[in-house]
Amino acid sequence: MTKPSITKLEEMQAAAYLGGGAEQIEKQHSKGKLTARERIEKLLDPETFVETGMFISHRAVGFGMESSHPATDGVVTGWGKIDGRIVYVFAQDFTILGGSLGEAHGEKIARLMDLAYQNGAPIIGLNDSGGARIQEGVASLAAYGSIFYRNTRASGVIPQISAILGPCAGGSVYSPGINDFIFMTDQNSYMFITGPEVIKAVTQEVVDFDSLGGAAIHSEKSGMAHFTAPDEETVFQQIRWLLSYLPSNNMTPPPYVPSSDDPLRQVPELETIVPDEPQQPYDIKSVIEAIVDGGEFLEVQQDYAQNLVIGLARMDGYPVAFIANQPGYLAGVLDINASDKGARFIRFCDAFHIPLVTLVDTPGFLPGSEQEHNGIIRHGAKLIYAYSEATVPKVSVILRKAYGGAYIVMSSKNLNCDCNLAWPQAEIAVMGPEGAVNIIFRKEINAASNPSAVASERTRQYREEFANPYLAASRGFLDDVIKPADTRSRLIQVLESLRDKRQDTPHRKHGNIPL
Ligand code: HXC
Repeated sequence: MTKPSITKLEEMQAAAYLGGGAEQIEKQHSKGKLTARERIEKLLDPETFVETGMFISHRAVGFGMESSHPATDGVVTGWGKIDGRIVYVFAQDFTILGGSLGEAHGEKIARLMDLAYQNGAPIIGLNDSGGARIQEGVASLAAYGSIFYRNTRASGVIPQISAILGPCAGGSVYSPGINDFIFMTDQNSYMFITGPEVIKAVTQEVVDFDSLGGAAIHSEKSGMAHFTAPDEETVFQQIRWLLSYLPSNNMTPPPYVPSSDDPLRQVPELETIVPDEPQQPYDIKSVIEAIVDGGEFLEVQQDYAQNLVIGLARMDGYPVAFIANQPGYLAGVLDINASDKGARFIRFCDAFHIPLVTLVDTPGFLPGSEQEHNGIIRHGAKLIYAYSEATVPKVSVILRKAYGGAYIVMSSKNLNCDCNLAWPQAEIAVMGPEGAVNIIFRKEINAASNPSAVASERTRQYREEFANPYLAASRGFLDDVIKPADTRSRLIQVLESLRDKRQDTPHRKHGNIPL
């Protein structure tokens, strides 16, 4: 016969598993959402979840709070494994007071963050919360403060990942905002500081959930979402895929996975993927996929600032980050959003020992008053700062165009890049031939009886003289000019030579990146 004490424990556990009750669970399912516990189960390796603080409940009084003390206080916390490695996870339970964050709920998350930080393991937040619990007033605001403080302290120490799986409002979006990666689903996933009702009351603006803070807005416009997926199960698969490239903390190397792809594999198709004609667009992702192990590339922020492609892949089994201009979108220009996107990714990779491979094919920075007035100087400077500050192995390949400021910014030799390579058709100059000829030969062209003939002859001369990689190679700004087909093998050789790279950084509290 089961002891009464055991029976009582089992009853309390069963009540905790039910969260806000069967009716609330039914409501959650009817919206196409999983419960907190179902989410954890689908995210982690089977039967690895160990829960902490199941019996914690709130201590609040007033507003009827004393009549009910649900276990977990609306957040399930604990640790488990992903691909055999420990991760810490919390899942907010919308069936209990809308997943809102009260004092005890906040303390549970903060405690979990302390464990993740102390034990050097990633933390994953499955967010589904109406924000600060209104009934608990300042205690819930203070609890958010404790979480934000810990997010900041853990930044660059352990990977911090957020999935937004419900309507996340107020405080519940700032912790994800400090995190390294945010995942959203196409439906049911919202992030905003203030919801449509409050906006209407304060500013009279009428806006619905989707156009205020849905997945499309945050992946295409605000750049907040790094990944979007059609459903929650795909989000969990994506999180697992992302983690496969990341170390558990900043003191360990990223995971090596033996590759069956020949490190010396030639890639002759690159000669046709990239057209010789400098203005002709192509998809840079085809280049990346052609050179990495097994063609497997995890693109980050694929719908935001598409003129710059960033993402993770493996070369000879080792994780590598790609930062690449996209000639297939806005000709691959650098602008404010692309600069922010690139800089933040570079800093993440630098913090977690992931080498940077930069593929350059850009006509330069986007000119115009809109960009100037919105601070392209400050934002472009972030990219310079991030590349210069990074001490991980840095390799760049100029595929075609590298003009002006964009040449310097995109991991040039003088930003302390370890190895700069170019393909034979690369053009490196202060600006493109047409623009340059119009400035330095303007008087001659205007005075000529046949201006277009003179202009095209001068353009041909300019291209012959400047628009090739050999001047840069002769000055040591390039380490080598390589055949496109050799790109994979050379990158792997260079990265191997840099594997134990060490670089001192100046003794200082921290630098001051232009934010
Ligand atoms: C307490 C809350 C709550 C909250 C929701 N609930 N949000 N309880 N505090 N913040 C409760 C509801 O009362 C309801 O309880 C249950 O959760 C489900 O909520 P519904 O409104 O029925 O669900 P839905 O229609 O899906 O709408 C979800 C929602 C909405 C969009 C999140 O509830 C909402 O707008 N909530 C307020 C969001 C907000 O403004 N938060 C900001 C707080 S201020 P019952 O018992 O009826 O089931 C903040 C400041 C921190 O966070 C700033 C830090 C920088």
